Amino acid sequence: MKKLDGKVALITGAARGIGRAFADAYVTEGARVAIADINLDGAEQAASAIGRGAFAIEMDVTDQASIEQGFDTVAREAGQLDIVINNAALFDAAPIVDITRESFDRLFNVNVAGTLFTLQAAAKHMIAQGTGGKIINMASQAGRRGEPLVAVYCATKAAVISLTQSAGLDLIKHGINVNAISPGVVDGEHWDHVDSLFAHYEKLQPGQKKAQVGAGVPFGRMGQAEDLTGMAVFLASSDADYVVAQTYNVDGGQWMS
Ligand SMILES: NC(=O)c1ccc[n+]([C@@H]2O[C@H](COP(=O)([O-])OP(=O)(O)OC[C@H]3O[C@@H](n4cnc5c(N)ncnc54)[C@H](O)[C@@H]3O)[C@@H](O)[C@H]2O)c1
Repeated sequence: MKKLDGKVALITGAARGIGRAFADAYVTEGARVAIADINLDGAEQAASAIGRGAFAIEMDVTDQASIEQGFDTVAREAGQLDIVINNAALFDAAPIVDITRESFDRLFNVNVAGTLFTLQAAAKHMIAQGTGGKIINMASQAGRRGEPLVAVYCATKAAVISLTQSAGLDLIKHGINVNAISPGVVDGEHWDHVDSLFAHYEKLQPGQKKAQVGAGVPFGRMGQAEDLTGMAVFLASSDADYVVAQTYNVDGGQWMS
């Protein structure tokens, strides 16, 4: 018996990176997984690489109609909804004096409003279904403390931790567990982008910031997406039925709380 046999999951932002690794792990554990991404081509490629058990849907978490259509598609394709991971997010960096309203709005729209309203749509489906569910939000060590160049992203991830607590406390009466994962630094295209922004602001060579942060992780290296899949499977499984409104650090020892 696999841990997620017979379950249906939707993962936002799963066309690449951590979300894609989660999709792979969930299929391996017996779930059917909707790879929901604004990048439909990428979602389709990820679904076909993962194979049977994964299917792609186009979803923009900043667009309410798109969120609702996405969940309707899952209901039509798979007939149920048991697990949702709010994983889609954007990153930006700038000193306080250079932050623009455009960047602030873009990040809060995807990372905070996208998480809240996808979580809300998921909860409505799960409540109507009457069989509970598991919702996992992607926070970050950036949500645990501010950083000089990363004010807006850090604030969005602090908001995700707070939303996880409020939603977790509100929805457990319906048998819906809401929890979050807080990664540290995870290599991939997201961090390629982070590295290039730090190279600009701190006058570093490409790759230098990655090397610095990797050396600073107590475990001894940057994380890989696969380092997070064990926690994502646990929080989606019945092993986590009594786990409510928590945010778990999976970061090689970066943050302790
Ligand atoms: N990589 C890290 O070091 C790290 C660290 C801490 C937390 N996290 C968090 O983990 C999650 C996944 O990170 P990642 O490194 O895989 O990121 P990534 O940038 O590689 O992937 C993000 C995905 O989200 C999708 N996306 C963007 N906007 C969207 C929208 N409006 N609607 C739907 N999909 C959208 C993108 O197309 C992409 O496939 C994010 O929430 C991120 O903040 C990442």
